[in-house]
Amino acid sequence: MRKVSYQICLSGNSETINLFSQLAKVYPTFAKLAKRQKFRGIFSSPPYVGLIDYHEQHAYAYELFGLERQDEQEIGAMFKKQSKKAQQEYVQGIAKVLVHCQQFLAKDFDIFLVANDKYNLYPPIANLQIVHQYKRPVLNRTEKDKGAYSEIIFHLKEK
Ligand SMILES: C[S@@+](CC[C@H](N)C(=O)[O-])C[C@H]1O[C@@H](n2cnc3c(N)ncnc32)[C@H](O)[C@@H]1O
Repeated sequence: MRKVSYQICLSGNSETINLFSQLAKVYPTFAKLAKRQKFRGIFSSPPYVGLIDYHEQHAYAYELFGLERQDEQEIGAMFKKQSKKAQQEYVQGIAKVLVHCQQFLAKDFDIFLVANDKYNLYPPIANLQIVHQYKRPVLNRTEKDKGAYSEIIFHLKEK
């Protein structure tokens, strides 16, 4: 069921961002509440490894919103391709994000990650375990081909 919700967009590097202090800049009262209660979880669609240049894909958004480009901080950057080294760096980057962000999460948090994990990179990540995998058919693809395509949504919790 869809509910009315309030959304805030904070732009930054998820490996290092301080969500509470960034939130305090745009919504101080909510930031106080968030700091006290912490966030219930994360739902994210992280980058694929070496597949898409996301800064180019969203170049118009950086211009429209006046956001500074941070190409070199992109995890799984396309220019690094999909070599073994690129895959290792990708896993380190995603693990760093997941470890960093846990300080903002409440006890017994839930993390959901949408992934097309063809290199099987997710299972060993950080102090987390996959408790469930949901298969999600993708019907409206940007690439308008007719090939059936589905993604996995990993449900992760603390070990
Ligand atoms: C699969 S896309 C998902 C985008 C968005 N959730 C959507 O549905 O449009 C992955 C996104 O992660 C971003 N990203 C990559 N490295 C990042 C980092 N270190 N910190 C924050 N975002 C990053 C990419 O720029 C890209 O926008």
